[in-house]
Amino acid sequence: MTQSKARITAIGSYIPERVLSNADLENIVDTNNEWIVQRTGMKERRITSENEFTSDLCIKAVKNLMQNYDKTVDDVDLIIVSTTTADFVFPSVACQLQETFKMKSTGAFDLNATCAGFTYGLHVANGLISSGLHKKILVIGGETLSKATDYTDRSTCVLFGDGAGAVLVEYDEENPSFISSVLGTNGEGGIHLYRSGLSKEMNGMKLLGDGNMVQNGREVYKWAVRSVPIGLQTLLEKAHLRTEDIDWFVPHSANLRMIESICEKSHISMDNTLYSVKKMGNTSSASIPLALDLGIKEQKLHYGDTVVLYGFGGGLTYTGIIIKWGVPDR
Ligand code: ACO
Repeated sequence: MTQSKARITAIGSYIPERVLSNADLENIVDTNNEWIVQRTGMKERRITSENEFTSDLCIKAVKNLMQNYDKTVDDVDLIIVSTTTADFVFPSVACQLQETFKMKSTGAFDLNATCAGFTYGLHVANGLISSGLHKKILVIGGETLSKATDYTDRSTCVLFGDGAGAVLVEYDEENPSFISSVLGTNGEGGIHLYRSGLSKEMNGMKLLGDGNMVQNGREVYKWAVRSVPIGLQTLLEKAHLRTEDIDWFVPHSANLRMIESICEKSHISMDNTLYSVKKMGNTSSASIPLALDLGIKEQKLHYGDTVVLYGFGGGLTYTGIIIKWGVPDR
């Protein structure tokens, strides 16, 4: 990777107030707490009310970031929102953030790389700052997956939650955050996890078109557990690091059992792993920044720690990044 000139300098997050517990789900579909905990490790998730949208969560995450950041965000020159559940196809969520915070001179766009979207956003922000094109970029992962969930399908509705996490990436040549990255795509596996607005055929399979998520959980599980350890190895080799050099591993919080299996295969202790899945469910591209912010609140993650972020999801797509945590301790 070209020498990075970008540092992650601030973080904030927001989850909606409404809790959807396993007990609540027992009243909606034929499921039970024991099955959900045993297969996913999830106890509850937060979901938005009818009139609360992805932009609302992202705005609150940025406001939370501003409380923890002693400089201005008026000079942000690009807003990247990673989401698969934007309020509208356009205007983007990113444009709604510009309008809310009145940043005078900023670009703004939404990015869709599903659960790998936040790490994609960081990768793009690092590239744009290190090349000299931008100086200060907001990267936000925000999702309201509850609005794209079929609450009659017990194999998917127990998994997903809503939330948003935001970080600021700034020019800092002296003390950059980004060490190495790995990106990849497996388009052939796209049929295993999709959200279609239109009925169409893909790879010989007729996809449903009701706007909800559809997944073959077992296939996604197998793919992630097989491919993430390989990607992790590549990432570490590129950085000339060993697993022991990593302070924190932050994989996409899809399912706690998946995370345990990935950690076991990669010889990473669960004690060195940050996740948001237990109380927030799978929040797609918000899950990694939510886990990072939780790590700060639990006083685990500190300035200067070496951290591996690894997003993976629908597409199928993945992005891993090794960073030095650059946010000053609160
Ligand atoms: N409660 C009770 N029983 C259930 C439930 C439920 N909520 N859901 C499924 N079952 C039953 C099934 O009907 C099946 O019963 P049967 O054996 O009588 O047919 C049995 O449990 C096993 O079903 P599987 O689907 O094979 O269960 P599995 O062990 O694979 O777990 C799960 C399912 C939790 C979905 C798992 O496959 C998984 O987590 N996959 C990965 C999902 C994921 O991460 N997806 C998203 C990536 S994020 C993104 O990009 C948006």
